[in-house]
Amino acid sequence: KPSPPLVSGPQQRARPEESVPFTCTTGGFFPEKIEVKWFKNKNPMGAQPPQVTEWRMKTYNMSSTAQVTLQKDDARSQLTCEVSHSTLPAPLRGSFQLSRVLRVPPSVEVRAEPSPVEVNKTVAFTCLLKEFYPAKVSISWLENGAEIKGQNLSRPLEVSRGLFELRSRVEVQATEEKNGSTITCMVVHDAQAPATYSAVLWISNPTQGGLSNEFQMNKGASELRGWGACQGG
Ligand SMILES: *[C@@H]1O[C@H](CO)[C@@H](O)[C@H](O)[C@H]1NC(C)=O
Ligand SMILES: *[C@@H]1O[C@H](CO)[C@@H](O)[C@H](O)[C@H]1NC(C)=O
Ligand SMILES: *[C@@H]1O[C@H](CO)[C@@H](O)[C@H](O)[C@H]1NC(C)=O
Ligand SMILES: *[C@@H]1O[C@H](CO)[C@@H](O)[C@H](O)[C@H]1NC(C)=O
Repeated sequence: KPSPPLVSGPQQRARPEESVPFTCTTGGFFPEKIEVKWFKNKNPMGAQPPQVTEWRMKTYNMSSTAQVTLQKDDARSQLTCEVSHSTLPAPLRGSFQLSRVLRVPPSVEVRAEPSPVEVNKTVAFTCLLKEFYPAKVSISWLENGAEIKGQNLSRPLEVSRGLFELRSRVEVQATEEKNGSTITCMVVHDAQAPATYSAVLWISNPTQGGLSNEFQMNKGASELRGWGACQGG
């Protein structure tokens, strides 16, 4: 009888859209004829024809390779290799969780609220990390390249399809000399190279008035803001 099939995958994690090979092996069977099927979740998959080699006198080993293009929502997917042989009353299965080899880098957004801010008021910078896997991530904050403290890191939250989301916040007092400062969120995901995302601290000019300043800075949102301005008088 063939031994229970073993499925192995790449040594390193791979990103969505990358195509990675998986191998299913079984051995010690006779006769030579053996059938292999692959499934991703419940769906049949294509694979190269199995390689059957003679191992010892009158026993054979088999190796089958399937190429899988990873997808963003594969954190909960499973590959199954199903082996049928004349000595087996029912097929034998081996499986592999794709979460073991998947890495989905976060999409990151940094926001300053309010922007612009009045002088000496507090502005909150939020760094939002969306749809990443695995959950292992660290965030630090920099002001003009120098690390700043007072960060508030929430726990990674599992949102959809096994992917995580995380929010970190830092508050900065908008003293006049900080106008134009760059506040950076530095993200290290799953021991990869750090990536940085920034927003600028803008202080509104008191002589011009806050609203006219916002018109200049948020051209895209001018309609909505204009409405608010009318209502406010
Ligand atoms: C063949 O399969 C047997 C049983 O699974 C295993 O012990 C052996 O190492 C395999 N031999 C080779 C050359 O792969
Ligand atoms: C902002 O704070 C600084 C230092 O505390 C002070 O000198 C300055 O007058 C304040 N400016 C305004 C507009 O309140
Ligand atoms: C951090 O979180 C605590 C509790 O939720 C809150 O009181 C505090 O204001 C937060 N600090 C910052 C810098 O956001
Ligand atoms: C902050 O800088 C912006 C852009 O240089 C400028 O328009 C604004 O008046 C400045 N604010 C103050 C309070 O100086």
